[in-house]
Amino acid sequence: MAPIIRPRRLRSTPAMRRLVSEVRLDPADLILPMFVKETLSQPAPLSGLPGVVQHTLDSLLTAAREAVAAGVGGLMLFGIPEIRDESGSQADDPDGILNRALRLLRDELGDETVIMADLCLDEFTSHGHCGVLDETGAVDNDATLERYASMAIAQARAGAHVLGLSGMMDGQVGVCREALDDHGFTDVVILGYTAKYASAFYGPFREAVDSELVGDRKTYQQDPANGREAMHELDLDLAEGADIVMVKPGLPYLDVLAEVATASPVPVWTYQVSGEYAMIEFAAAAGAIDRERAIEESLIAFKRAGADAILTYWATEVATALNGGVR
Ligand code: PBG
Repeated sequence: MAPIIRPRRLRSTPAMRRLVSEVRLDPADLILPMFVKETLSQPAPLSGLPGVVQHTLDSLLTAAREAVAAGVGGLMLFGIPEIRDESGSQADDPDGILNRALRLLRDELGDETVIMADLCLDEFTSHGHCGVLDETGAVDNDATLERYASMAIAQARAGAHVLGLSGMMDGQVGVCREALDDHGFTDVVILGYTAKYASAFYGPFREAVDSELVGDRKTYQQDPANGREAMHELDLDLAEGADIVMVKPGLPYLDVLAEVATASPVPVWTYQVSGEYAMIEFAAAAGAIDRERAIEESLIAFKRAGADAILTYWATEVATALNGGVR
């Protein structure tokens, strides 16, 4: 009855398990998304994202320094302007809050970390859509591309190393690449949100950016039922010049992440979105799961599926823990 082959041998001690683990987390794989809001005089906590705040410019810099000291791989900035309008004019205004924040971080941190900007209009438009609207109220793809090109130049001028194209307009990577190159920003990196799904898991993010969206994003973000379509989006983003590609959200789309990671010749990142964070935080607060173990397991799942880096609101905390610090 005694088995000869015993997989349990390699699970016998912590040292053995550590030695044979296929993937591991590294602080440099973790990217911290951060929110900066124009009108604030002090950081504002978010009820849907316990532990995450909307920053002032001052608190943003402090938190950015902490993240860098913990060894995170980079920072992804989102801006919340005071004034929103139909075209999202604050998005490409050099004095818009996001561009000011980028300039501040680049001035203070230089090339010490990788500074990234969300390139999308939803935080800046009065209607809350990721693009501009036509007369019928539909999101106008090609008119939006002109706005994205202008944002790309503004964000590059403000000092962003990486632009995160999250709007899901057709042709966005190509148009932004051309605009950047025409203005001499040939070294600015484009992160294409290759597979971005119309997801309920973005729920708490709406509070984080004070979103005023009425309706949904289903005419531009992907249908959760479609995996094959992600491979089409990958082909297009690569052909248009994406330097890095993203799958978002993370956990509900591990199959898509694994397939993109197998096929992609460029780095593949994933975004552990606000709802994924909230699920673990609230379940842990209710005593249903062990918070630290659940966080680590969720992150290791992304690595196992093939992600090279992960955007997570826990980036600083986990990087600190990985460095032997106390959480
Ligand atoms: C759009 C954007 C969204 C998120 C990041 N960029 C929201 C959306 O597409 O509706 C969500 C991130 C999160 O939920 O953590 N610019």
